[in-house]
Amino acid sequence: MKIDILTLFPDMVEPVINQSILHRAQEDGHVEIRVHDYREYSTDKHRSVDDYPYGGGAGMVLRVEPVVRALRDLDRKRNALRILMTPQGIPYSQARAKTLAKNDRIIILCGHYEGYDERIRDYFDVEISIGDYILTGGEIAAMVVVDSLVRLLPGVLNNEASAEEDSFSEGLLEYPHYTRPRVFEGKAVPDVLLSGDHGKIEVWRKEQALSRTKKRRPDLYERYLKRRKDK
Ligand SMILES: C[S@@+](CC[C@H](N)C(=O)[O-])C[C@H]1O[C@@H](n2cnc3c(N)ncnc32)[C@H](O)[C@@H]1O
Repeated sequence: MKIDILTLFPDMVEPVINQSILHRAQEDGHVEIRVHDYREYSTDKHRSVDDYPYGGGAGMVLRVEPVVRALRDLDRKRNALRILMTPQGIPYSQARAKTLAKNDRIIILCGHYEGYDERIRDYFDVEISIGDYILTGGEIAAMVVVDSLVRLLPGVLNNEASAEEDSFSEGLLEYPHYTRPRVFEGKAVPDVLLSGDHGKIEVWRKEQALSRTKKRRPDLYERYLKRRKDK
């Protein structure tokens, strides 16, 4: 997979993509992530990318020309999925991450300022929000998307099963985990996990996932039950 990130703050993005699993995924050739400062695509002498809004009002608006110039340069064959980070987009989810991970090429635009010139939207395939709150810019949101989809690429995680069992992959929160010591301050590891009976452990984990989801995320639980019924 190839990912191009368009940002005005490459220094915010570089440290994140050059650590841990994202770094290793690039080293191992599972993904190529390139970061571009789209100020480079501005042609005026101040290399400006924003301007005052028509009609007045607070804040500056991201101009359409530098963005479209960047897209045309990076995506000449028009074969990348173009993602616009915006709080007005589709709410991001694990299901969406799985869909995105199927693409060979992705371009992500990180916004800034008050908003985009509305015409920018015409040049993108999908608008994504990472939640109902406002960040100062799209960089952190783009990192959420990149991190969550890269770990789904085949071969990126050492233990493939761990991505399959993560919360949300089956529509449920994940079961609880324990490691040594067996007892800590009077809190003991559930006996079943020490039993060596893998069948029983699987049943216990499923029950835990169900009861945990029901308690913490009744919305997910209801959706899970409905899906089961529909099947
Ligand atoms: C200050 S925000 C602009 C918000 C804009 N005034 C609005 O209400 O839609 C600047 C940029 O941060 C990014 N951003 C902020 N919150 C976000 C969110 N929840 N999800 C995705 N991107 C977000 C977007 O790229 C956005 O263009």
